Amino acid sequence: MTAPARRISLTGIKPTGIPHLGNYVGAIRPAIELARDYDAFYFIADYHALTTIRDPGELDLYTRSVAATWVACGLDPERVTLYRQSDVPETFELQWVLSCMTAKGMMNRAHAYKAARDRNREAGLDEDDGVSMGLYNYPVLMAADIIVMGADVVPVGRDQIQHVEYARDIAERFNQAYGDRFALPVPEHVTSSDGDRNTLPGLDGRKMSKSYDNAIPLFGDARSTRKLVRRITTDSTPVEDPKDPDSSTLFALYAPFADAAEQEELRARMRAGGMGWGTLKDLVADRLEEHLSGPRARYDELMEDRAQLDAILAAGGARARERASALVGSVRAAVGIA
Ligand code: TRP
Repeated sequence: MTAPARRISLTGIKPTGIPHLGNYVGAIRPAIELARDYDAFYFIADYHALTTIRDPGELDLYTRSVAATWVACGLDPERVTLYRQSDVPETFELQWVLSCMTAKGMMNRAHAYKAARDRNREAGLDEDDGVSMGLYNYPVLMAADIIVMGADVVPVGRDQIQHVEYARDIAERFNQAYGDRFALPVPEHVTSSDGDRNTLPGLDGRKMSKSYDNAIPLFGDARSTRKLVRRITTDSTPVEDPKDPDSSTLFALYAPFADAAEQEELRARMRAGGMGWGTLKDLVADRLEEHLSGPRARYDELMEDRAQLDAILAAGGARARERASALVGSVRAAVGIA
């Protein structure tokens, strides 16, 4: 008997910045863990980034930075297919077919588009002011990313669940029309069982995010990382007083890099009092450095050696494309375009 084919997991990261600690703990690390049990396809959604990035040098830099980050964080490109969205042009062919299966009304309700419209309304502007067709169609392209690889599960953060639900809906509509000729796999989202624990706070205590300007870059050099940790907002609790780990940004940054026993130990020390915020900041910075110095060396190497990174992406792109073109071939035949 042959072993059953492994299920497919797929996720993408939009290259709109240099990855930060929140991206690592919330998305990259859980996806790498998931890849142990799945046939994984992870990609850099470079064309998606075009909805916001206008500088070609930046798009290139962020694309390489996200790719190098995946590898530096332990993704094994021999086992996981790592590729650029733009290296799979079949995605864009499928996107058209899928957009013909997509209800416009559903797109009007997409979170990102609705938020843009609400902001415009509040500002007294035309509803669609500054809204490109790229922003509007974003969820259809994402559905194509997912469906073109025949993904079963899509690890995403909460903010992306609606997009995966749209992909399901779109696949189901295709299947209603053509399922007797060819049925698309219907994907489902998975969010990490850790839930909120995977959302890191940033320097100001709000969710770490590039748009809040409160992020700690994942692979900044040791000195700048320590400086940023020192800038984390703390309250004026005196050194000798007990401190509450559960409301502390510093504890939240320590926890993902410590095992259960170490977390308990730090909780106890904070609650006992006698430990000042400065000491805690040093402890967090030391811990980050222990975990990140090895991966950072690999990241720097890949960012300097363009050929090495290109070779990894080219190999992944070829594997991804082979799979995508088989699926798009079946879709063409199903709709009557041989
Ligand atoms: N929209 C995702 C984000 O902003 C990125 C993305 C694009 C993606 N295509 C995808 C994620 C397909 C999962 C599957 O984070």
